[in-house]
Amino acid sequence: MRRPFLGVAVFTVVVVLAIAAVGEMITRVSGEGGRRPAVAVSAGTITPEAGETVFWGKGKCSTCHAVGTRGGAVRGPNQGEGGPLGLPIGARAGERARERARATGKPYTATDYLVEALADPGAYVVQGYKNEMPNPFQPPIRLGSDEVRAVIAYLQSLGGTVDLAAIKLPAGLEAKSRAAAEWKPYVAGDSEKGEKLFFDVDSSAGCGKCHRVGTRGGSVGPELTTVAGTRDPVFIVESILEPSKVIASGYETVLIITKSDQYVTGIVKREDATTVEVADSQGRIQQVARADIKQRTPQTVSMMPGNFKEILTVEEFHDLLAFVLGLR
Ligand code: HEC
Ligand code: HEC
Repeated sequence: MRRPFLGVAVFTVVVVLAIAAVGEMITRVSGEGGRRPAVAVSAGTITPEAGETVFWGKGKCSTCHAVGTRGGAVRGPNQGEGGPLGLPIGARAGERARERARATGKPYTATDYLVEALADPGAYVVQGYKNEMPNPFQPPIRLGSDEVRAVIAYLQSLGGTVDLAAIKLPAGLEAKSRAAAEWKPYVAGDSEKGEKLFFDVDSSAGCGKCHRVGTRGGSVGPELTTVAGTRDPVFIVESILEPSKVIASGYETVLIITKSDQYVTGIVKREDATTVEVADSQGRIQQVARADIKQRTPQTVSMMPGNFKEILTVEEFHDLLAFVLGLR
């Protein structure tokens, strides 16, 4: 008898089940089941230094943000010198606050902007970036209010003035995060089998062809070494089953048509004044001279195959999920 595939018919059911289960799996994987980890920052120790530790550690901020020349992440704006407006975040926040005051008609201080950036990341999206910043109060990041206050103090210290009294967090943010963590388990996947599937290029998954985890894997798609540390399970499930729904920044597909009517599809990996380097789905790099380009059109379809729900079995999918959700 054939094992069941994750066909269209079961798709909705699987997603609903997965969403119900993964909260529990995450807690289990990280060993935090039932109890919250000891809070590193408490009311008495809210300092920029404590916030710096959270930024580069538990908060996972540095997986998307660099600070000046420290760290290499580019997914979110640099928070040091060299960030948007050419200002570090502590100074930039003042400019943004004026912009937000104009847009909303309400008064904003620089610190109000920082609070909003963390408590409601989608409220304002920095130009040139996508609405991709996770809410740090929610799983999987799950910071406490004092940790967020400390991070804000650290951001203030980057070119601005540290002022703890100005940090006014809206009430109820942590309460929401606890509710979101109360998901119930169903079937647990086997993460060891999932890991094998991930890296086995001859299996129906073969994710490692395109994704690096630690020191293994390719670089067509984003590195997934800590993906579950910043992405919630729903996002991860959707990324695997519906890759084109949200395309990760920097990994958009383009179609280039050359003057000799050659079609080149892929992800732009590098470009300078004379050449554009495009990676195809096998990771092969093709160089196109800028002078040869007739047309360059962004595509709405991801380079990640969209047929995993047809080719993975239900069991394989959950094994993979168990592996990917453990990548923190
Ligand atoms: C998964 C990637 C990701 C993670 C993790 C992340 N951010 Fe962001 N962040 C972004 C992106 C993308 C933007 C720009 C879009 C926007 O404004 O919402 C952003 C915007 C911001 C902004 C406001 C924009 C600015 O620079 O003016 C601040 C402040 C910020 N992040 C701080 C943090 C802090 C502190 C953490 C850790 C608790 C964090 N981010 C974690 C991706 C991320
Ligand atoms: C042919 C290359 C390719 C293969 C094979 C592939 N992916 Fe992807 N993946 C990509 C690309 C490119 C992106 C970025 C564009 C997007 O978001 O769709 C991506 C995005 C993702 C993301 C979202 C990451 C983020 O930070 O936003 C996840 C999660 C992911 N893939 C998991 C997987 C898993 C699990 C498998 C195996 C079942 C897999 N991928 C197979 C190319 C691939």
